[in-house]
Amino acid sequence: MAENKKSALFVCLGNICRSPMAEAVFTHLVKERNLTDKWFIDSAATSDYHTGESPDSRARSVMEGHAIQMNHRARPLVANDFRKFDFIFGMDKSNIRDIKCQAPKNCKAKILLLGDYDSEGPCIIQDPYYGVGDEGFEKVYEQCMRCCKAFLDKES
Ligand code: 4NP
Repeated sequence: MAENKKSALFVCLGNICRSPMAEAVFTHLVKERNLTDKWFIDSAATSDYHTGESPDSRARSVMEGHAIQMNHRARPLVANDFRKFDFIFGMDKSNIRDIKCQAPKNCKAKILLLGDYDSEGPCIIQDPYYGVGDEGFEKVYEQCMRCCKAFLDKES
């Protein structure tokens, strides 16, 4: 990444639930620690199902409840992401498989499972999309918060 910034891209299937939440949580922590000029942060999808859409209303409501801003429109993962980002995080094993399948030969990014930073486990951040209500989204928020804190502690 230019300007000596570190960079992290959060990826899930649709880019309307887990990855924009992870992006928003990480951005919030980076701001809180006055590290905004040190990080470039984004999120993307392994599919094009929801390209251009805002995050799911349940994701927005959970993030609002925690006073964390989320400004994102879904976009697909592209080849340049693998050269541009230092870290690409998947939320579950199927994301990791899909991300690795799309990776070009000159991939710079480390492709990692975000949940591997969770000292409380489980290491999988499950898709909350087909669940009823906000409960699954609240769990995603808590997992993202623990993981992003641990990742930022390690990388800063
Ligand atoms: P996400 O959740 O991968 O966390 O954004 C999903 C959103 C939409 C779909 C699947 C998962 N979908 O099949 O439309």
